[in-house]
Amino acid sequence: MRNLKKVLALLTVLVMLVGIMAGCSSSNQPASSGNTSDVSNGSNDSNSGNDSSSKVRIGLSLATLQEERWQRDRDAFKNKAELLGAEVLIQSANGDENLQNSQIENLLSQNLDLLVIIPQNADSAAAMVDEAHKADVKVISYDRMIMNTDVDLYISFDNEKVGELQGKFLTDLVPEGIYYIFSGSPTDNNAKYFKAGAMKYIQPLADKGDITIAYDQAIEGWKPDQAMKLMENALTANSNKVDAVLAPNDGTAGGIIQALAAQGLAGKVPVTGQDADLAAVKRIIEGTQSMTVFKDARKEAEKAAELAVQMAQGKEVSELADVNSKVNNGKIDVPSVLLAPITITKDNIDKELIESGWFTKEQVYGSN
Ligand code: BGC
Repeated sequence: MRNLKKVLALLTVLVMLVGIMAGCSSSNQPASSGNTSDVSNGSNDSNSGNDSSSKVRIGLSLATLQEERWQRDRDAFKNKAELLGAEVLIQSANGDENLQNSQIENLLSQNLDLLVIIPQNADSAAAMVDEAHKADVKVISYDRMIMNTDVDLYISFDNEKVGELQGKFLTDLVPEGIYYIFSGSPTDNNAKYFKAGAMKYIQPLADKGDITIAYDQAIEGWKPDQAMKLMENALTANSNKVDAVLAPNDGTAGGIIQALAAQGLAGKVPVTGQDADLAAVKRIIEGTQSMTVFKDARKEAEKAAELAVQMAQGKEVSELADVNSKVNNGKIDVPSVLLAPITITKDNIDKELIESGWFTKEQVYGSN
C-alpha cells in the first residue's frame, strides 16, 4: 500500500512538472487556475493537493471499550495522530475476537499505511498480523501483545511490574493469612504478566506457610459481573474467611467488592486493582478498595500515535528513537516501548491523578 502511495505521489509531481513546462511560454500563468495574476496561489494549490495524497492512513482496532481507560486510549491516539497529519480509522470489537478479525479485514481493505491492534485474543490475532503483512502494512501491538507472530512493534506498560506493585502492596499489608487470587482474561497475555509479577511476592510467603491461597481463578473477558459471582463462590466455599484479595484490575475489583459488601466485609479486606478508573478511585477514598495501579493511557496512546505516524511514513522500526526494550512473544523478540506504572493509594491521588489532569477534583471528591 505504501509503495502504491509513493508511486501516486511521484506521478502527481510528474504531472505538476509537465503542467509547469506546458505553461512555460507564458511563465506567469498558473497551470490550473483561472486567476492569471496569482502564481503563488497556483503553486500552493498543487502543494496542498500533494499533501492530502501523502496523508498517511492508520487503522486502530480495539478489542473492547469495557474499561474506562480504552476510551482515553482511543481519543488520545486519534487526536495525536491527526495532529501529526494522519487519518485514523477506528473499530472496536466489544470483546468479540471474531468480530475483531472481521473488522480488521475491513480496515485492511481501506488502503492502510499502518495498523494498530489491541487484541482480544493474543493468539488468534496473529492471523491478522499475517494478513496485514501480506498487504504490506506494518502492525503495532498496543498494550496487549500479539503472540507467535512477527509483529513489528509493541507499546505497553511494564506489565510484570504492574503485578509486582499489586503483590508487594498486598504482602506488605497482609504478610500472613488467607488469600484469594484472581487473574485477568486467559486470552489476554497481559493477565499472565500481571499474575506472574504479583506471585513473585505472594508465592514465597505461601511456600513458607505464612499465606494460604484458598482460591485461584481467572476471570473470562475481565468481566466485573463474572468477578462478583466467582467471589461469591469463593466466600461460600471458605465460610467467608479471607484476609486479602488480589484483583487484577479495577473493573473486576468492583465486582469483588460488591460480593464482599453483600457479606458485610467491604472495607475489612484489602483488595488491589489497576487502571485508576473513577469508580475505583472513589472506592479508595471511601476505603473499600486499597490501591490501584495507574498507567497513564494518554502517554501510552500519544507515544503510539507518534510512532505509528513515523512508521506509516516509511520509517523503519530500527530508526525509532523510543524503543527501549524487547519482549518475546513466543516467536520473536519484539522491539518494544514500555512505560512505567505507578501505585496509587489515598496518599497520592491528588498528586498523580488530579495534578496530572487524569481527573478533576470535582470528579474525585464531588458528590456522586
Ligand atoms: C489492560 C488493562 C485492562 C485490561 C482489561 C489489559 O490488557 O492492560 O489496563 O484493565 O486489559 O481491559
